[in-house]
Amino acid sequence: MKVVRLTLRFLIPLAIVLGLIAYGVTPLADNLLTQWFVKDLELRSKLIVNALDNSIFETIDARMQTKTRIDAFFRRIMQDERLFALGFCDTEQQLRFRTEQFPDTIACEPAAEGAESRTQVVEIPNGSLHVAAFPLQGSGRVLGELVLVHDMSFVTSRSTRTQGYIMYFIAIIGAIVSVITVIIAQLSLRGWISGMRGLLGENRQHPLSPSGPPELQPFARDLRRLIRDVETDRRLRDDSQTVWTARALKELLTKELGGEEVMVISNREPYIHVRRDGKVVAQVPASGLVTALDPIMRACQGTWIAHGSGSADRETVDAQDRVQAPPDHPRYTLRRVWLSEEEERGYYFGFANEGIWPLCHIAHVRPNFRSEDWRQYIRVNEKFARAAVEEAKTEDPVILVQDYHFALLPRMLRRLLPKATIITFWHIPWPNPEEFGICPWTEEIVSGLLGSNIIGFHTRFHCNNFLETAERFLECRGDREHSTISFRGEQTAVYRYPVSVDYPVRLIRQTKSVEHARLQVREKLGIPPDRRLGLGVDRLDYTKGIVEKLRAVERLLERHPEWIGRFTFLQIAAPTRDRIDEYRKFRADVVAEAERINGRFGSDGYQPVILRVEHHEPADILQHYRAADLCFVASLHDGMNLVCKEFVAARNDERGVLILSQFTGASRELLEALLVNPYHVDQCAESLHSALTMPEEEQRDRMRNMRATIHDFNIFRWAGRMLLDAARIRQRRRFVPKNTFPTPLPVSEPSAPPAA
Ligand code: G6P
Repeated sequence: MKVVRLTLRFLIPLAIVLGLIAYGVTPLADNLLTQWFVKDLELRSKLIVNALDNSIFETIDARMQTKTRIDAFFRRIMQDERLFALGFCDTEQQLRFRTEQFPDTIACEPAAEGAESRTQVVEIPNGSLHVAAFPLQGSGRVLGELVLVHDMSFVTSRSTRTQGYIMYFIAIIGAIVSVITVIIAQLSLRGWISGMRGLLGENRQHPLSPSGPPELQPFARDLRRLIRDVETDRRLRDDSQTVWTARALKELLTKELGGEEVMVISNREPYIHVRRDGKVVAQVPASGLVTALDPIMRACQGTWIAHGSGSADRETVDAQDRVQAPPDHPRYTLRRVWLSEEEERGYYFGFANEGIWPLCHIAHVRPNFRSEDWRQYIRVNEKFARAAVEEAKTEDPVILVQDYHFALLPRMLRRLLPKATIITFWHIPWPNPEEFGICPWTEEIVSGLLGSNIIGFHTRFHCNNFLETAERFLECRGDREHSTISFRGEQTAVYRYPVSVDYPVRLIRQTKSVEHARLQVREKLGIPPDRRLGLGVDRLDYTKGIVEKLRAVERLLERHPEWIGRFTFLQIAAPTRDRIDEYRKFRADVVAEAERINGRFGSDGYQPVILRVEHHEPADILQHYRAADLCFVASLHDGMNLVCKEFVAARNDERGVLILSQFTGASRELLEALLVNPYHVDQCAESLHSALTMPEEEQRDRMRNMRATIHDFNIFRWAGRMLLDAARIRQRRRFVPKNTFPTPLPVSEPSAPPAA
């Protein structure tokens, strides 16, 4: 079909060109033919006259003397010589004899002196006649002129036939030329493309020894540069000129990915069904990952595969373990994967959260690696790989693998769905090679992750740590310039995609004013309306610096006693991973610390610290963000931290102060926050004081800038960048079939939010 189209595309212009040539050539040929036949007729006339010799002179002379007719004589000559007409002009230019058909339009004319003959072509109504006049002389006398007339209609008919032949000839030659040209062009194009592919593909693996055809070598570098330039240009346009909304993301999926299938795989599910007071309710877990991905899946309408961990999860799924999400306005499919007690213990609590989590966070908690946990981790990764294959509706879905629970999954998926585009996002920090090397299965983990087309981290620092770890532990080749790793003939890009939040916040539409939130929250907490309120929102995790925050509050009250009775710090702490000793110990520490400080500075009706160890729904958390005077994020180490971004997004009144740990990924973007080292208790206490005394104008200026950053780099842009990169990989694969072409540069690199 393609060849037919190509041939037609070539043939039509060729036919037009040939038509034009034929149009120009035909009159020329016509002209030439006519001249040729005229010459021919002249010659023929001369031959006739010569053949008649003296006999005609004598006959005409005799008849002129006797004045008798010579019709029979002329008729005989005409028949013998196949003439149209014959006439004789005397020396007085009188037409003395003529045959019947001799046209009246031919007049006798004086003979040119010394001329052998006189010829002309005379037009008549149905054609043209060739007239040749020859002087008749003999015995030293001139009798007059013999006029021979030939009918030239045969010239016209022959010319028409000749024109036909010329047209056929040109058409046949044209067709032959075009078919040969198309065949040659096809062959050379195929050769050229395969040469170029070979050259570019080969180059990826051996940059110094390209083995493509030598004649293509000079073009390869230019071509690669050109492709990169076009991509960078397009990427910058795509990325920064888009107003990133759920709708824009959806349009991007349709335009760039042709509405292709998108799957998310994460451990934590976006909606957990639990039984509460005898009723089944859907809960949204306190997880940055869920916060980030739910709006995306609403936009993409794909399938989200996750561990069904809720007490009522099994009651709410269909026969294929699927349930529509979100429960109130279904937009995508949630496929639940069930884990046995043993699997959950080994894979989730054990390997993921007692091993990798403390390994990747510098929070001074020792990681624990057990072989049995590792076995369960492999098993569960395999289980999710099978679920992905079951859910895939196409052979090449875009699969977004989430986090440290699934380090082995990308390679498993690559084997089961070789055409899938796999993007793995690692939401937590990646430490340096020395630290990561503590894990007994470092090689397996890094190799598993390298089954992805792209691995994403929040910061460039973590990308570099990953590149170094891969280079240190595997036989692979890292390319710092393009941030890629080539391993076992495949290439994985390592890009920075700083995660963000839903902005503008959907839920704000359903909330009342900030003033209303301030009063309502204070009323619920049982504190007076004018009490200043500080807020912390975290999972009850030792990486979050909760104890450090409480100590900073204590220090504030020591250093600035004027705040005693006038300031309360509310810490919301969602219980998490409570089967792990370290978490249970931590919970006890936090509770004890809050009680100690309240015991020291509290009084009747006043508690400096309110600790709420319970789950809060997102709408409730939003109310608290809007009610607070300051929000304190003190993570000891955090990949990004979304609480700080949620707080900023919630404050459309442009008030409130953010105190932010310098050890969060977010601190590289939200430069207007009061950045603190959570280990430095005095600095934190002073920051609390600064926040409480900060003029409204300064609050507004800082908040406005931070909101602008989140406006520009919201969650849709985070997802959009990854999906644009996925689209680009797929487009390239069409050009170079194997995964051999350099992965395009990420959309995130040139226009990422400011990095401190
Ligand atoms: C935080 C991290 C995520 C992680 C999640 C797991 O939100 O930023 O990367 O996936 O915790 O929490 P969970 O409660 O599911 O163990």
